[in-house]
Amino acid sequence: MNTVKTVRELRAAVARARSEGKRIGFVPTMGNLHSGHAALVTKAAQRVDFVVASIFVNPLQFGPSEDLDKYPRTLAADQEKLLQAGCHLLFAPTVEEMYPDGMDGQTRVSVPQLSEGLCGASRPGHFEGVATVVSKLFNMVQPDLAVFGQKDFQQLAVIRALVRDLNMPIQIIGEPTVRADDGLALSSRNGYLNEAQRDTAPALYRVLSEMAESIRQGQRDYPAMIARGQAQLATAGFRPDYLEIRHALTLRPAAAEDRDVVILAAAVLGATRLIDNLHLNLDDK
Ligand code: PAF
Repeated sequence: MNTVKTVRELRAAVARARSEGKRIGFVPTMGNLHSGHAALVTKAAQRVDFVVASIFVNPLQFGPSEDLDKYPRTLAADQEKLLQAGCHLLFAPTVEEMYPDGMDGQTRVSVPQLSEGLCGASRPGHFEGVATVVSKLFNMVQPDLAVFGQKDFQQLAVIRALVRDLNMPIQIIGEPTVRADDGLALSSRNGYLNEAQRDTAPALYRVLSEMAESIRQGQRDYPAMIARGQAQLATAGFRPDYLEIRHALTLRPAAAEDRDVVILAAAVLGATRLIDNLHLNLDDK
C-alpha cells in the first residue's frame, strides 16, 4: 500500500489504476482507525479492484469548542490496519494541501433539511464541513463507489443527498455498525472514556434496543417512549443530547404509520459525546 500526501500524486495513482481497467472504491476517514473502519475497507475491497482510503482530520467540521487538537493522530498504526484490510492507496494530505487558500473563502457545500436537527443542532456547521470535504475528496479520487459507516446515520443521509443532488456518479454504500461484545458501537471517541465510563457506555445501545423491541411489538406512543428512554439514559449516568425516532429516509419525526424508522441518540458521558442509532424496517421479515 502506497501513502501519498498530494492531490497530484493521488490523481496519478488513481489514473494508473483506471488505465489498468480497475474499478475504484473509496473510504474517507479521519484516522485513529478501529475494526469499524477496517470493515468499510473490506467491504470496498469485495466490490472493486482498487481501494483508496483517506485520513484527514478536517478542521472545517469541528466547532470552536470541539476536540480538533486532541483528536488522535495515529498514522503508522492506521497504515498497518488499512494494509491488513485490503487498502491499495492511502491519501493523507495536510490541511494546506486540502485548503491551500485557507478555509474562510473556501466554497461550501450545504445540504439543507437533512443537516438540520439531531447532530446538526448541537454541532452548527458540522455537516457543511463534512459535505464540503467529502465533495472535495470525491472530486479528487473520482471513485466508482464509496463506503461509509451507518453509525453516523445522519452523515450518511447527508452524503447520499449531496451525491444525488449534485449528480455525482458514485454509488454510496452504508456498512452496518461494528459493536463491541457488550453492544457499544466502535468509535474513535471511545478512547476518551475512563474505565467507569466505558462500563456505563453500553447502556446507550441497551436503551435503543429496548425501544426498538417496543416498536417491533407494536407500541407507537413515540413521545412516551422517548421520555422513558431519556430517563433511563440519565439514570445510567449520561447527559442525553437527543433521543429521537425518525423516518429513516427523510429524518423527519416518525409518524405511527411509518414502516422505515430509525432511533437516534447522542448522549454525553463525562466529557465524551457518544452517538448511536438503530434502524428498523418493520416490513423486513
Ligand atoms: O466520518 C468521518 O470520519 C468524517 O466525517 C469524514 C466522512 C471522513 C469526513 O471528514
